[in-house]
Amino acid sequence: MTQPSTHLFSPLTLRGVTLPNRIVISPMQQYSAGPDGLPNEFHRQHYGRLSLGGPGLLFTEALALTAAGRVTNSDLGIWSNDHLPALAALVAEIERFGAIPATQLIHAGRKGSVSRPWEGYSPLDAATAAKGNAPWTTFSASAIPANRGWHVPEALDADGIKRLLDDYASAAARAAQAGFRVLNIHAAHGYLIHSFLSPLANHRSDNWVMVRLSCVDDEPGGWTLDDSVALASLLKEAGADVVDCSSGGLGERTTTKMVRRPEGYQVPYAERIRTEASVPTMAVGLITTPAFADAVVRGGRADLVAIGREALNNPHWPLHAARALGRDERFERWPPSWGWWLEKRARAAALAETSTNATGG
Ligand SMILES: Cc1cc2nc3c(=O)[nH]c(=O)nc-3n(C[C@H](O)[C@H](O)[C@H](O)COP(=O)(O)O)c2cc1C
Repeated sequence: MTQPSTHLFSPLTLRGVTLPNRIVISPMQQYSAGPDGLPNEFHRQHYGRLSLGGPGLLFTEALALTAAGRVTNSDLGIWSNDHLPALAALVAEIERFGAIPATQLIHAGRKGSVSRPWEGYSPLDAATAAKGNAPWTTFSASAIPANRGWHVPEALDADGIKRLLDDYASAAARAAQAGFRVLNIHAAHGYLIHSFLSPLANHRSDNWVMVRLSCVDDEPGGWTLDDSVALASLLKEAGADVVDCSSGGLGERTTTKMVRRPEGYQVPYAERIRTEASVPTMAVGLITTPAFADAVVRGGRADLVAIGREALNNPHWPLHAARALGRDERFERWPPSWGWWLEKRARAAALAETSTNATGG
């Protein structure tokens, strides 16, 4: 599938949408919205800053498809038409510097109704409600909590599942209306869809199973890579264009049990699914160096490479990657008001080096 000359800065066209390069900013929840789920000035600055860094595809954080589908009371949402103007404004910020705007739909399921990570990431209760942070009823495949002491979710009945599918359809239509060009269905990390997939969370006997996958559960007896390969084939048949290959997260504290975490530790999942299900894949997880990211694409191990935390650490990562890979010797990818100065500085430094070498100093 990969041409020999394909690399991190090759464009990729799928279904008429062309990404200028293979670098993706992974969805990252900021837990910084108000209870209305609307983006605010922080979100516009945050995504504008990431867009200036030059990724091909820039995901917003996950958008909750219903208010009950949030993780915290501070998540962004897309559960009503009232969200559209602010989301369209966010799309404009992302597109302003050439990134393709993408978003993700989430229903947190049994992992919802918790406080923000830096406030404990624990179930909301009467005490938090007294401070304006009220809990809500959570839903899942079966009435099994994500962790000991967490909310016991209600198992969705057939009508509830039908309503949920309608909610997905409405939210997807709104995402298109707001101007997003790529949509990712969050089916990983223990949220609602994952709880239907994994035998650890789904003890149902009916057959409601239905595209970020947790490719393995990181827990004995759970969802496996073989399951993911089989599901990826079905997803491809159902029209999915890319399978985004993450892992784990079913319960808050079940990670790192089985999965070791060297750089790019989830790349083997993307590689196997790409080969065996013949579907384009995205690799994500501890990918931090340009050479590694480039090798993943060149080696045909994945079609796209997503970076998450490294983009928080360095929002200009894609621009630096282009420099490191010899794809931008003169800072031409940078906004000219920055690039012109940086190129001049680099030239001056090179000259200083030459004269130091010439004088033997
Ligand atoms: C602050 C933060 C928020 C995240 N929120 C989401 C999210 O909304 N949806 C999602 O699929 N993954 C989410 N993730 C996971 C990242 O998209 C990514 O898969 C993970 O951080 C591993 O990649 P990295 O090592 O490059 O950070 C989040 C990660 C972080 C650090």
